[in-house]
Amino acid sequence: MDKNRIIVFDTTLRDGEQSPGASMNTEEKIRLALQLEKLGVDVIESGFAAASKGDFEAVNMIAKEATTINVCSLARAVEKDIKAAADAINPAKNKRIHTFIATSPIHMEFKLKKTPDEVIKSAINAVSYAKSLVDDVEFSCEDAGRSDIGFLKEIVDAAISAGARTINLPDTVGYRLPSEMYEMFKAMSEFVNGRAILSAHNHDDLGLGVANTMACIEGGARQVEVTINGLGERAGNTALEEIVMILKTRADKYAPLYTGINFKEIYPSSRLVSSITSIEPQPNKAIVGKNAFAHESGIHQDGVLKHPETYEIIKASDVGFKQDSGLILGKHSGRAAFKDKLKNLGYEVNEDELNALFVKFKDLADKKKDIYDEDIRALVTNEITKVEKFYEIITLSTSSCNKGHSGAVITIKHGENEQSDASIGNGSVDAIFKAIDRISGIKGELKDYQVRAVSKGKDALARVDVKVKFADMTTIGHGLDVDTMLSSAKAYVGALNSYLNMTK
Ligand code: KIV
Ligand code: ZN
Repeated sequence: MDKNRIIVFDTTLRDGEQSPGASMNTEEKIRLALQLEKLGVDVIESGFAAASKGDFEAVNMIAKEATTINVCSLARAVEKDIKAAADAINPAKNKRIHTFIATSPIHMEFKLKKTPDEVIKSAINAVSYAKSLVDDVEFSCEDAGRSDIGFLKEIVDAAISAGARTINLPDTVGYRLPSEMYEMFKAMSEFVNGRAILSAHNHDDLGLGVANTMACIEGGARQVEVTINGLGERAGNTALEEIVMILKTRADKYAPLYTGINFKEIYPSSRLVSSITSIEPQPNKAIVGKNAFAHESGIHQDGVLKHPETYEIIKASDVGFKQDSGLILGKHSGRAAFKDKLKNLGYEVNEDELNALFVKFKDLADKKKDIYDEDIRALVTNEITKVEKFYEIITLSTSSCNKGHSGAVITIKHGENEQSDASIGNGSVDAIFKAIDRISGIKGELKDYQVRAVSKGKDALARVDVKVKFADMTTIGHGLDVDTMLSSAKAYVGALNSYLNMTK
């Protein structure tokens, strides 16, 4: 690898998915993985294969579908995790196992209950075993930010000798300052002396993730572990879009360092992540926030009109940013206009997908007068799915009651049959979910329920996201409809279909 290339390691599908409420189903993970490939990231951490059957399947499917990208799976420094990771990524052309163990005194003593010597032994065993299964092994010293530098050198040396090609030194709890990260990477880079690539992985607990990652690069890191929109545990991970745009925009300082990112795919990637997860970046978020390129003040607007660079250091179009064009399609819009709109929003769909989407669009246009860009995005995210539909809602009627129980009557298609049933509940949502359980004969335990309006107006599309536990498996489902109750029913049935897909 060229020594000036900064390897972009995207962990949206692993660390990003650990963000509360950011769960994705297998189909969504595959779609995002393919978008990340288009974006030009080098390595994609596709999940933690040993975590569950669903995680294994998602990593495995991504490994099958990816063409050029390196597909990586995370594994604790234990054989069973490493074996699961190796099996899951096996179909990929380029693959990596990322194994880790904590190295800070607090983690070793209280979490692992291991002595430093035992931790080194585990690291050596893990890396050697991973190396016997794949060529490309990354080793992480979890909580490196709070680890003793002498111990870090010892364990890193052992991991490199056991075969690790990449050494990741994360600031797991987001505690460090940029000057401290710079010193750590400089010292470790001199110590490693080109025997492995050093990687930066910084959490944002003090809002320093991006600054720390840039300091790591200055100290010698040549891989950055990042997520789209800065998604991730607690306050999140370092945002991919910010790091790659700093390197590009400030090439006067960082050249000849560069990344292989296709910058115009940044905004479409950001939109895809927020529509899949229902987590919007804050409006003033750098690069991808909806106000990132908006000029409100008259003085600024005047300046930009006279010479854009008076107030703009990045052109919105450089990152593929598209401002919502306001009111767009409606009942009378034809197929060509719809296709054009999809293209404009950055979606490449095949003929079958276009046909299916156009039918959904027409259905929506019958119910909703004004259709906005966000409605179209939600429609695409919701409809392009290869999950087999074991159950499909045909009709639903609900009754709400301010005293006593609410009720739901539902008809569902299952194979060639249509089945109807009814239930009462504590509120309409409860009644609907109980009625669906009665029809399927599979009882779900609702773990999470979120609802939001996708765009504007009283007739806005309601997007419902649910997390449901069926037997010993938790799956997610999304529903989209102008009717919130129907959207809830669709989300619940979606989660049920995901469960049946995974257990069939
Ligand atoms: O933050 C962290 O330390 C991690 C490791 C598993 C790499 O995510
Ligand atoms: Zn992390």
